[in-house]
Amino acid sequence: MKLSDIAKSLVVSRKGILAADESVGTMTKRLDAIGIPSTSENRSLWREIMATTFGIESYISGVILFDEILRNPLPNGKMIGKLLQEKNILPGIKVDKGTVKFNSEEETFTLGLDGLTERLEEYKKMGSVFTKWRAVYKIGENLSSTAAITANSIGLAEYALLVQKAGLVPIVEPEILVLKGNHDINKSKEVTEKVLKDVFYWLKEFGVKLDSMLLKPNMVLAGKDSLNQPKAEEIARMTVEVLQVAVPPEVPGIVFLSGGLTPDQATEYLKTMNQSNEKVPWQLSYSFGRALQQEALRVWGGKSENVKAAQDAFLVRAKKVSEARNGK
Ligand code: 13P
Repeated sequence: MKLSDIAKSLVVSRKGILAADESVGTMTKRLDAIGIPSTSENRSLWREIMATTFGIESYISGVILFDEILRNPLPNGKMIGKLLQEKNILPGIKVDKGTVKFNSEEETFTLGLDGLTERLEEYKKMGSVFTKWRAVYKIGENLSSTAAITANSIGLAEYALLVQKAGLVPIVEPEILVLKGNHDINKSKEVTEKVLKDVFYWLKEFGVKLDSMLLKPNMVLAGKDSLNQPKAEEIARMTVEVLQVAVPPEVPGIVFLSGGLTPDQATEYLKTMNQSNEKVPWQLSYSFGRALQQEALRVWGGKSENVKAAQDAFLVRAKKVSEARNGK
């Protein structure tokens, strides 16, 4: 399949992406929070529970995985890449190697370009057809700094170019930590616009094919500690306004991260954006991690007798998010 067709099929109507690519460290945090020991068996079992949920393929077009999970058999003995393919779900892989702090503000850039081409060849053999790279930005009075914005944009562009050269679709994820702090939504809009414009400047400079990638941004939100909390309509309007000035129309889809919003909030904001009468050139879809998994993970609680109930909860949330993606 052509890369542009893979990108389009990931954002086909009624479907979106499940981000299940938590690193060992992040997954350990999620499991610790509900008292489940973070053994490789449990980390793997959780992904198996999601991937074997009956009917999930109606709502999920692709799943982003982490190296440990793609590489090793699941507890049921199957390889997850194969299992997803059998359900017509595209396997993807997170290929960045996390962030490193570089200044006194503790801003970061992302590592992982070394040996990337060789790793991509290996991931392709394991069935991956798309990838993800996450850059993280802080928001604050003088943040994000020009250094953080430029370093991360160039990293994202180099990554996306190498991924397309290797014959996979890159998801470009510039995540501004918009929920952290007491800034209002206008500040979040300003920083998101600045970052996205710079990301696309460099993607174009490096010759990344815009019709063969997806953008995974944050929504435009006020900080958690802001006294001025916007309503869904304002969040949706401001997010779409930023995308309209920063994202070229050739990009087939925008797949939002949930970024610490509750599942209901993330679902509502996605729905409101898709209800807007504003005609936009891209599909507005999802690549949620926590907003898709959080409720089901709690229901499971690491107990085999809860697997069915957890899968039911997962399916219910996936259906809601899918409907939201179509404005319902
Ligand atoms: P959240 O939806 O939990 O933010 O996760 C998405 C993701 O992949 C972050 O990199």
